[in-house]
Amino acid sequence: MKIIAYGYRDDEMPYLSTYQKMEGVELELKREHLTPETASWANGADGVSITGVCRADREVLKQLADGGVRFLSTRTVGYNQIDLEAAKTLGIRCANVTYSPYGVANYTVLLILAILRKFMHIMVRSGCMDYSLKDMQGKELQNMTVGIIGMGRIGKAVARCLSGFGCRIIAFTPHPDEETRTLAEIMTMDELYAQADIITLHTPATPETYHLICKATLDKMKKGVYIINTARGELINTGDLIDAVESGQVGGVAIDSFEHEQDIIHVDHEYNVIRNREMLILKAYPNVLVSPHAAFYTDQASSDMVRCSIEGLLSWGQGKENPFELNV
Ligand code: COI
Repeated sequence: MKIIAYGYRDDEMPYLSTYQKMEGVELELKREHLTPETASWANGADGVSITGVCRADREVLKQLADGGVRFLSTRTVGYNQIDLEAAKTLGIRCANVTYSPYGVANYTVLLILAILRKFMHIMVRSGCMDYSLKDMQGKELQNMTVGIIGMGRIGKAVARCLSGFGCRIIAFTPHPDEETRTLAEIMTMDELYAQADIITLHTPATPETYHLICKATLDKMKKGVYIINTARGELINTGDLIDAVESGQVGGVAIDSFEHEQDIIHVDHEYNVIRNREMLILKAYPNVLVSPHAAFYTDQASSDMVRCSIEGLLSWGQGKENPFELNV
């Protein structure tokens, strides 16, 4: 079976090279991401493995299908970069992966603590030898109510990680199960907005969740609420969030994903003019922390991502089921 893996990183090499040595597997690696310009490189391949910043829209999928590609797997949990409808029409089967939810969950706790304790500010000041306590006073987590929106694998892992801090944990999930009820008090979204001091998002980006956090929902929250997003930028209307930070309705923000991040994240832009004004405005506020979609990035996750993606493609190639197949 011939597979092309687009956008590979050095840290994935130890795991990818295992499959390169496998008999009957031809695994070609490309540093570049899948785009209209690079899609033809997959001509003659059976399957492609892509990253979160690859493009798998109708135009690209058509090129892949014309080149004979039948299987596509993203080495990510999120798959909003893939046009699943188009893939189905073109006869390309698609899959995502699963990986330890604790990488993102640990990072979420890190962001919550960092924003509550003004940690970035403290470190910047300490770098300038300013060891005064000016503006450094923080808040303690056990005095707060954390609202988790979305209780899938990551939302549940966040609840488990937070359980040792003594905070009240409340959650909204459209599908509460027995376990979620042991981890958090399940309530409606409006109840959560009214009670949470910190709101953390763990829901996928879908047409239903697009701009879930917007003026209308921000107005329902407690004044000074903290917003944490380690899920997807599209969940937040960034313009409305900026207004809410400026008015004080939002007391702090820590986001690892932002709208229109595609060409920005995971690239060194030190001397580039970044074209994302809203992200740059947010970054300028002292009570806002923006990180470059790095929450997932652990040794455990990299290994899980490669393994699930390549083994899923190989299963299809052998006429077996891929447990991570996505259906429209
Ligand atoms: C995901 O797996 O969905 C992520 O957010 C990771 C990222 C590389 C896109």
